Amino acid sequence: MKKVLIISSSLRKNANSEQLAASFADGAKAAGHDVEIVSLRDKEIGFCIGCFACQKTKRCFMHDDADAIREKMLCADVLVFATPIYYYEMSGALKTMLDRANPLYPSDYRFREVYALATAAEDEEYVPQRAFSGIEGWADCFEKSELVGTLFCGGVTDIGEISGNAKLQEAFEMGKNI
Ligand SMILES: Cc1cc2nc3c(=O)[nH]c(=O)nc-3n(C[C@H](O)[C@H](O)[C@H](O)COP(=O)(O)O)c2cc1C
Repeated sequence: MKKVLIISSSLRKNANSEQLAASFADGAKAAGHDVEIVSLRDKEIGFCIGCFACQKTKRCFMHDDADAIREKMLCADVLVFATPIYYYEMSGALKTMLDRANPLYPSDYRFREVYALATAAEDEEYVPQRAFSGIEGWADCFEKSELVGTLFCGGVTDIGEISGNAKLQEAFEMGKNI
C-alpha cells in the first residue's frame, strides 16, 4: 500500500483537472492505496522569496497553508500534481506551491514517484509539454524521485466539460496501476 498525495491546483470548483485528479484517486483507492486529495482552492500560499534559510533549517520562515501541504508531501510515497494549462504552463498556484516545497529538498522526503495531470482548451500534443517539463524539472531536483507518468485531456474549456470524457477512465487506470 502506498501513501498517495494528489494536489489539485485549479482554483475553480468542479474543475476539469480536479475531476481528472478524482478519477486518478478512485483508481488508486480501488488498488488499495491510501489516497488524499488536497485542493489549493481557498488556501493562502505566499510566494517563495528565495532566502534559502530552509536549506539549513528544513523549515520555511513564512507560515501559511503551505506548511500543512508540505508536511503531507514529506510523508507521501507518490505525489500527483493536477493542473489546468495556463498560457502553456502549469497554473501559478501549483508553481507557487512547488517553490514553497523547497524545505523538503534537504529533508528525508519519502516520495519516489511523481505523476502530472493536465487539462486545456486546445487538444494538441504540444499544449501540456511545458507544464509537464516544469514538473519533471521539479521532480528531477529531488534526486530520489522522478516523473513517471503524465496524462493530458485537451478540448475542455468550461467547468465540468470533461464529464464523460474517456480520459477520466485513463486517469482511473493510471491511478490503479501506480
Ligand atoms: C489564464 C488562463 C490561461 C489559459 N491558457 C490556456 C492555454 O495556453 N492553452 C489552452 O489550451 N487552454 C488555456 N486555458 C484554458 C484552460 O486550460 C481550460 O479551461 C481548462 O479546462 C481549465 O482547467 P480546470 O477546469 O481544471 O481549471 C487558459 C485558461 C486561463 C484561465
